[in-house]
Amino acid sequence: MTASDAREIAAHFPPGFLWGVSTSAYQIEGALDADGRGRSIWETFAERPGAIERGEDASVACDHYHRYREDLALIRDLGVGSYRFSIAWPRIQPTGSGPVNRAGLAFYERLVDGLLEAGIRPFPTLYHWDLPQALEDKGGWAARDTAAHFADYTALVMQALGDRVAQWSLFNEPSIFTTRGYLLGRYAPGRQSLPDYLKAVHVVTMAHADGFRAAKAVRPDAKVGSVFAMAPCEPATDAPADRAATAYADAVFNHLSAGPLMTGRYPQPFLDSIPLKALAMLPGDTERMRVPLDFIGVNTYYRLVVSGGGDSRPDLPYFLFDILSDQRTTGGHADFSRPDPTAVRIENAFGRSEGKRTAMGWEIWPRALHDVLLSITGLYGPIPIEVCESGCAFDESPGDDGVVHDDARRAYHAAHIAAVADAMKAGANVMSYHVWSLYDNFEWASGYRPRFGIVHVDYVTQRRTLKDSARWYREVCHAARLRAGAVSLAER
Ligand code: FCB
Repeated sequence: MTASDAREIAAHFPPGFLWGVSTSAYQIEGALDADGRGRSIWETFAERPGAIERGEDASVACDHYHRYREDLALIRDLGVGSYRFSIAWPRIQPTGSGPVNRAGLAFYERLVDGLLEAGIRPFPTLYHWDLPQALEDKGGWAARDTAAHFADYTALVMQALGDRVAQWSLFNEPSIFTTRGYLLGRYAPGRQSLPDYLKAVHVVTMAHADGFRAAKAVRPDAKVGSVFAMAPCEPATDAPADRAATAYADAVFNHLSAGPLMTGRYPQPFLDSIPLKALAMLPGDTERMRVPLDFIGVNTYYRLVVSGGGDSRPDLPYFLFDILSDQRTTGGHADFSRPDPTAVRIENAFGRSEGKRTAMGWEIWPRALHDVLLSITGLYGPIPIEVCESGCAFDESPGDDGVVHDDARRAYHAAHIAAVADAMKAGANVMSYHVWSLYDNFEWASGYRPRFGIVHVDYVTQRRTLKDSARWYREVCHAARLRAGAVSLAER
C-alpha cells in the first residue's frame, strides 16, 4: 500500500477516531501461576479430555505476562491510538472475593502506565471469560452472589486504576460465554444445563447493572459500557416462517444481553419462549437492570441467515440453533412452546452463503458490520459505539524471507473499515475500530491453530513477526495521526 492509500482510508474518519488493537488476558498472558494468581475456570476446563483441540492449554500462550515490555514497544511501534485488553479477575482476587492481590494488580498498573506514556488509550475489559474457579465452585454465573462479587471486583479495580483509565468495558460477549459455558458445554465451565443457562443470563444482566453502579460510585466521571457479540440476522427467504424465525434469532442473539440494560426489558420474543420463573428474577430487578451505559462495544464476525423450517440439523457452531432445537442435550425442562423450537434453523457456514470463508469457516461479509452499527443506532439512538473486535483467522506463517504475506487479512480489514465509514456516513456514532487481534493467540476451545493476529507468534520461540496486514495497519494509523495533527494545527 502506498502512503496515499492509507491517507485515503484515514480521510474517511474524523480526526479523533481511534485506531486500535484488541487482546484478552487469558488468550495471551500465560503465567497462570505467577504472582499469586488464582485458578480460573479455563484451567479446570482445559483438563477435561477433548475440551480443547489437540489438548492445548493457555499456560504459556504468548507469554505476554513476562514479555509485556517488548509487547508495549511493538504496540507503540504500530502507532495505534487505543489498546483493548482485559484484566484477569483471578490475578486481582485469586478466589474471586476478598482483598486485592497487590502483585497481580501491579502488572496492570505497569501495563496501563506504559500505554499512557506511549500516548495510547488503555481500554480494559473487566471480564473476558476467566472466572475464578472458587466462584464457579459456588455456582458460577448461575448463582446470584456472583453478580455481587463482580461489583466488588469492579470497585477494587476502579479504585486502583480509575485515576488513569478513563474508559471501561464491564463484560466481553455475555451471550457467548453464557451459552457456550452453561448451555452447550463447549467453553468453560462446560456445563450443559438449560436451567443454569437461563439463570446465568439474568445473573450477568444484574452483574452489569451492579458493576456499572459500583464503577460510577468510585469514579463518576469514568465512561462505562460493555461489549456485545452482534450479527445481523437475515431471513433465508421471504416466507413468513423465515421472517418470524429471524425476528426471534435477532432478539436472542443480538438483544438478550444489551436489551435489558438499555431498555429495562428482556426482548419480548425471548420472554414469550421461556417460563419467566426460569430467569430467577428477584423483586426490584426490573427497575435495577436498566443502566445508562456510556457506550456500546460491539464485536461482529459474520451475519446469520435464518430459516424457520427444515428438518435436518446443520452442523453449526452457533449456539442459537442449539438453544432452539436441541433441548434434550441441554438437560432442560423448560417449556419452549413459542416459537416452535424445532423449527428454527440458522445458517452461516452452510446453506445460502455468498462470501468466501475464513479458516474458522466464517463467511466474510463486511456488510454485517455496517448493518450492526446502524441497527444499534436505530434501536438505541446515537450512543457512542466502539468496534471492539473485527478480524479473521487465516493460516499464514513466515516464508523463507521471514515475511508473512496475508493479503486476505489485509483485504478483510480494509473492507470492514470501509463498512464502518459507510455506517458513520449513515449516522452511526462510531468512535473506534479495534483489530482482533494484535497477536495470534489461544483461541479458546480451538486452541492455537486459528491465527487471528496481525502479528504472527511463533509459539516455540515466542518470536513476534509483523504480518503484511500489520504493516498496512501501521500505515493507516500513521496517516490518521498525521491527519489529526494537521486538523488541530489548522484549528489553532
Ligand atoms: C470473540 C471473542 C474473542 C476471540 C474472537 C475470535 O468471540 O471475544 O476472545 O475469541 O471471538
